[in-house]
Amino acid sequence: MTGSSIGVAVVGAGMAGRSHAAAYRSASTLYDEGLPDIRLAAIADVNPAFAGDTARRFGFERAETGWEAVAAADDVDVVSVVVANPLHRQIVEGLLAAGKHVLCEKPMAPTVEDAEAMVDAARASGRETGVGFVFRRSPAVAAVRDQVASGAIGRPLHFNGHYWCDYGCDPKAPMSWRYKGDTGSGALSDVGSHLLDLAEFVCGPIQSVRGAVLPTVIGERPLPLGAAVGHAAAEVSDVTEPVENEDLATFTASFASGAAGTISVSRVAYGLANSLGFELFAERGAATFDLARAGEFGFVDRTPAGPTQGYRQVLVGPAHPYLTGGLPMDFPGVGYGQNDLFTFQARAFLEQVAGLDRLPRMASFEEGLHNIRLLDAVTASAKAGGAEAAID
Ligand SMILES: NC(=O)c1ccc[n+]([C@@H]2O[C@H](COP(=O)([O-])OP(=O)(O)OC[C@H]3O[C@@H](n4cnc5c(N)ncnc54)[C@H](O)[C@@H]3O)[C@@H](O)[C@H]2O)c1
Repeated sequence: MTGSSIGVAVVGAGMAGRSHAAAYRSASTLYDEGLPDIRLAAIADVNPAFAGDTARRFGFERAETGWEAVAAADDVDVVSVVVANPLHRQIVEGLLAAGKHVLCEKPMAPTVEDAEAMVDAARASGRETGVGFVFRRSPAVAAVRDQVASGAIGRPLHFNGHYWCDYGCDPKAPMSWRYKGDTGSGALSDVGSHLLDLAEFVCGPIQSVRGAVLPTVIGERPLPLGAAVGHAAAEVSDVTEPVENEDLATFTASFASGAAGTISVSRVAYGLANSLGFELFAERGAATFDLARAGEFGFVDRTPAGPTQGYRQVLVGPAHPYLTGGLPMDFPGVGYGQNDLFTFQARAFLEQVAGLDRLPRMASFEEGLHNIRLLDAVTASAKAGGAEAAID
């Protein structure tokens, strides 16, 4: 910390970088007092227009065009790294070496080797680190997890999860870093990393996967004429480049608890821009979650007995995680969305940096590495014709 305040910066001002910027801006409005003042110091992006615009919109003091300036800045303590996955390692290592606390977006790295090096760098630095598995901060998901962890609904038996997006549905969607890289670096890494972390968050560790297929169904895409941001459409040229990685992935998983998982992810799911959801069946109850209805979850157990027993819709409210003091109007039924989860996450990381122990800690770099090993096992299963692949 710089004096009595925490200086924050965001590297990468694309789609998710803006959510981090907005989250740091709101983080001081949440929960109890005790967190040092937050200073919104810098936004860095190689695209100066993106950096400048994001700094202006979210009230950061300055814009930079490289992470190196953030690393060198005396007034920056905490940095979110929100750039393309292959860039994470170099930037995270540079920031840690400069003494910054680092929140790295998911998936933590493109390879197990890179992720292992990042774990080593984090340990050597002694700084706080975390991975942006933001759906852990969903009050509804956390509430379901609490039901499992408390034993209230017994042992999980079956987790059926999907993360379906449509950003790649249009063959004219512009080529971007998301379509480049080895098998496994496509939809599996992009959205499957979130879903696998969420599956383990709710049901515990996965031991092996099998039956994986990783198809590419649109083989080439046009180059954008300008800078493409996130999943947004952009004007494209007549020049195309080959898509290098998978558009979708399906596989099954075996949890250490004995539960089975059935998993499906896609970036070509027409009409479903951001459809994350799951059904969890346990011995004495079940739960459902759908991100399109983020402020609720479905739940069934043995109560009440009799003819009204069955699934009920639970509207998230102050009785559930993160809500009380987490929203300006923290009233039942008010609702919240994915951007609010980034704010809960930012607050949790800042509390961690400040040495407060009031919110669940960030997913560690070790957990980020485990997530990369899981993705690696799914890819290995696909390359072996669907054979079982154990998680190291
Ligand atoms: N947690 C979530 O819900 C979530 C959602 C979307 C993306 N992400 C993750 O966030 C990261 C970024 O994804 P995105 O969709 O925002 O990508 P994006 O392409 O929209 O933005 C990336 C930005 O990084 C900038 N950039 C490139 N090289 C840079 C460098 N060397 N230094 C600084 N800036 C640089 C680009 O100009 C661009 O503005 C990825 O790791 C992705 O997996 C997470």
